[in-house]
Amino acid sequence: MAEKKALKEKFRRDYTPTNYFVEQVNLLFQVFEDCTKVSSSLKVKRRDGAPENAPFQLDGEGLTLQSLSIDGETLPPSRYSWVEEDLLEISGPLPSSFVLQSLVTTKPEENTQLSGLYKSSSIYCTQCEAEGFRRITLMQDRPDIMATYEVRIEADKESCPVLLSNGNMTENGDLENGRHFATYNDPFPKPSYLFAMVAGDLGFIRDTFVTRSEKVVALNMYSEHNNVKKLYHAMDSLKKAMRWDEETFGLEYDLDIFNVVAVNDFNMGAMENKSLNIFNTSCVLASPETATDADYERIQGIIAHEYFHNWTGNRVTCRDWFQLTLKEGLTVFRDQQFSMDMTSAAVKRIEDVNVVRSMQFPEDNGPMAHPIRPESYIAMDNFYTVTVYRKGAEVIRMYHTLLGKEGFRKGMDLYFQRHDGSAVTCDDFRRAMADANGVDLTQFERWYLQAGTPVVRCEAKYDVEAKRLSLLLKQSCRTPQGGDALPFHMPIRVGFLAQDGSELLPERVLELKEASQEFVIENVNSKPVLSLLRGFSAPIKLEYERDDEELAFLMAHDKDSFNRWEAGQLMFSRTIHANAKAMQAGQAMQLNAKLVDAVRRTLLDTSLDKSLQAYALTLPNLQNLAESMEIVDPDALVDAYKFTKKEIARSLRDHLLKTYEANLLPEDSFRNDAEAIGMRRLKNVCLGYLAALGDKEVLDVCLKQALTANCMTDLVAAASCLAANPGEQSDKALEHFYQQHAKDDNLVFCKWIAIQAAACTDQALEIVDKLFKHPSFTIKNPNICRSLFISFAGNMKHFHRADGSGHRWLTDRILELDKLNPQTAAKILTKLAGYKRFDAPRQASMKAQLERVRNTEGVSKDTMEIAIRALA
Ligand code: PHE
Ligand code: ZN
Repeated sequence: MAEKKALKEKFRRDYTPTNYFVEQVNLLFQVFEDCTKVSSSLKVKRRDGAPENAPFQLDGEGLTLQSLSIDGETLPPSRYSWVEEDLLEISGPLPSSFVLQSLVTTKPEENTQLSGLYKSSSIYCTQCEAEGFRRITLMQDRPDIMATYEVRIEADKESCPVLLSNGNMTENGDLENGRHFATYNDPFPKPSYLFAMVAGDLGFIRDTFVTRSEKVVALNMYSEHNNVKKLYHAMDSLKKAMRWDEETFGLEYDLDIFNVVAVNDFNMGAMENKSLNIFNTSCVLASPETATDADYERIQGIIAHEYFHNWTGNRVTCRDWFQLTLKEGLTVFRDQQFSMDMTSAAVKRIEDVNVVRSMQFPEDNGPMAHPIRPESYIAMDNFYTVTVYRKGAEVIRMYHTLLGKEGFRKGMDLYFQRHDGSAVTCDDFRRAMADANGVDLTQFERWYLQAGTPVVRCEAKYDVEAKRLSLLLKQSCRTPQGGDALPFHMPIRVGFLAQDGSELLPERVLELKEASQEFVIENVNSKPVLSLLRGFSAPIKLEYERDDEELAFLMAHDKDSFNRWEAGQLMFSRTIHANAKAMQAGQAMQLNAKLVDAVRRTLLDTSLDKSLQAYALTLPNLQNLAESMEIVDPDALVDAYKFTKKEIARSLRDHLLKTYEANLLPEDSFRNDAEAIGMRRLKNVCLGYLAALGDKEVLDVCLKQALTANCMTDLVAAASCLAANPGEQSDKALEHFYQQHAKDDNLVFCKWIAIQAAACTDQALEIVDKLFKHPSFTIKNPNICRSLFISFAGNMKHFHRADGSGHRWLTDRILELDKLNPQTAAKILTKLAGYKRFDAPRQASMKAQLERVRNTEGVSKDTMEIAIRALA
C-alpha cells in the first residue's frame, strides 16, 4: 500500500450504486494477546444489469492481508490490486454470485485512532461509523450495502469472559488452551458501520422491558467492574426511552436483547450499533459523587438518542454519508422531544437553543460552514458537526411546527412504511412528510442545500382606525461563498400580548416563504406587544426594534417561557455589548439600571420555576455574545462581561446571598428530583454572581460549599467560582477536589482539568501547560484531551491572547495528538478556524498556526482537511 495519504475529495453528486453487493457476512475473530485474526466470508451478488466483466471493489485500510479466495480457490495476485491506497480491486469477469474469503491480522492494542478494532483499557471493542469497518476486514464499507451478519468470537476465557456482537447469541462454549467462543446472529440486514464486537472482562447489570406487544426484551449494561454501580441511571433512562418511543411514534424494539457497553477511550459520545450500543463512559456512568445534574440529563438524552437510532438510522439508514443528517438531525430531534417530556420543556429548549447559537451559528458563519447535507468531504469524520446534528434537528423541528404534531406523526409513519429496511436520502424523508400531509415542501429543500444563518427582520404597523395589524417580514442570508441565498420556507411562531399581559389574540404560525412578505391581521382591538419566534421556531437571527421597557414587559408577561428568557438575554447582551464598546473607546463602563431592576425582579420572584429562574438570571455565554460582535475583541468582551456581572452582584449582593442560602439543601441526604435540581441550579447561579465580587466573604462561602458538597454539581460549581479567583481558597478547593475525587476517577479528573483550563485568570496558559504535564494526563484518552484542549479553547481571553501564545500552545498539542488520533486532533483544530471574525493581530496569529499545520509533513487527512478548508 502506498505510504502517502492522498487527499481525495468526494462529492455528493457522484453517488452511484455498486455493481456487486454483499448480502451476507460471516466473521471469525480470533483474539490473542498481541494480535487478532479476522477471517471473513462475504456472500456477493452481481446487481441486475451490471456488466459481467465489471471489477469488484472492496475497501480496506491498514490491513495485513494474509489470503484471499473466491469460491474456495485462492486468488492469484494478478487478479487483484490496490487501485487506491484504501481500495482493493478484483478484476472481472466474476460469477453472478460468489463467496469471497479473506484472512487479515490486526493489532488492536496499537490502534490509537480508536476506529476499527481497538483496545480500551483491557476491553477489546470496535468503532465502525463512519468508515472504520474497512480497518477490520475487506468490505464494501458504505451504508447502502446492507447485509446480515453471523459472527464468531474466540478469546481467552479468563481475560475475556464476556464476548458480544450484534443480535442474538446462538451458541457458546469452551475451547482448548483456556479459550472459549460465542456466536451471534443478527437477522436484520445492516450497513457495516453498525457492526460491533466486544471482548473483555466486564461487570454488568441486567433488567427487562416488556414491549407493548408483550415481548420481553433482556437489557444488559456492561462496564469495568468498579463502575457497575454507576449504570443504574442509564438503565432507568433506557426503559423510559423504550416506552416513550412506543407512545410517541408507535415504534417498538425489534430484537430480544439490547446491550450497552461503556468504554473509557472513545472519540465521540456513543454509537448505535445494532443491539450493541457502545458508549463513552462519560455519556453513561453516573453517581451523585461523580456526575453533575447536567451529566444526568445528558446521559438520559444520549441513551435515548442511541436507542432511537434503532428505527431512525438502523431500520431506515442513509444511502450515503452526505445524508448523515437524515439519521442524526432526526434522532437529535427525537431525543430532544423525549427530554422535553421527561424534564421541563422550556428548560430543555433554552439549553438546546443555547447550543445552536453558541456553537452552530459560529460554524455557519465561518470557513467550515456547510449545509446540513454537505456537498463534499475529504474525511467523513469531520462532518459529524453541530450543523449536521443540531441545525439538522432544528430543520426537523420546523417540519413538526409546520405540519403539527399529528401531521408530523403521519409523515413518520409513511416514512417507515415506505423505507423500512432500506438506505435512503433526505429527499425521501421530505417526500414522506409532504405526501402524508398533502402539502408542497419543494422550497423546504433549500434548508438542505444552502449554508448560512438567515436573518429575519420584522417591522410591525398597527392601524388604530382599521384595527389592522400588519407584519412585514424580510429574510436574507449570506452563503459561505458570499452570495445571497434563495429564500427559505420557515415557520415564525408569534404571540400577541395586550397591555395587561394577557394574550390579545391566539398565537399564530406565520409561514414565511418570500424574501419579503406581509402578514395582515384584522380585528385587532389594540396595539399588541409582539412575542416573536416563540420557542425559537426557526434557526435564524431575528431583528426587531424594541426598547428595554418592552423587553422588561415580555420578561414579566410572555406566556411563552422561552421568550420570557429570551427577552432577558437580549437585555443582558445589550448592556454587555455597550460596555465592550465603551471599553474600546476608552470610556467608563456603565450598568444599565433597568437591567438591574429586571434582574432584581427575577431574583425576588419566588413564584417562578427555579430552573427557569436560574436560566433567566444567567448571562448569555461569551461565544454567543461574540457572535453578534462585528469584530471580536476578546479583551473588551470579557472585561465588559465581567464588569456587568460584578456590578449586578454589587447591587444585589444581599438578595443574592439570601437566595443562595434559601436554596441550600440538607447535606446529609442527596436528592435529584426536579425541585432539588432547580434549587441547586438557582443557588449556584447566585454563587457565580457573588464570586464575581471576589472578596473574602464570598470566597469563603464558595470554599465551604466545595468542602462540604454532597454531590458533584455543587463541587463543580464552587470549584469553578474559585478557579477564577486564584488564592488560598482556590488552592484548598482544588486540592480537595483532586484528593477526594479526581485522583482515582478518570471522569472526575476530566472535570478537574476542565474547570482549571476554562478559568479566566492571568495564569491560564501556565496552568494548562502544568495540567498537560500532570502525571495523570494522557494524550491517548480523548475525554482527557477534550477536557484540557476544548476547555482552554473556550477560555476566550487567554486562548486568544494577542501575542498568539495560546494559539501556538494549542497547535503544538494538536500536532502531537494528530500522530495518534487524527479524528480528535481535527476536532480541536476547528477551534482555530473562525479567525476571520477577530481583530488583525489575532487573525494573523490564528492563520499562522493553521498554515503551520498545513505545511507540516505527515499530517493526517482529517486534520489537513480542516486546515485547508479553514484557510480557503
Ligand atoms: N452515530 C453516533 C451518534 O450520534 C455518533 C458517532 C459517530 C459515534 C461516529 C462514533 C463515530 O449517535
Ligand atoms: Zn446519532
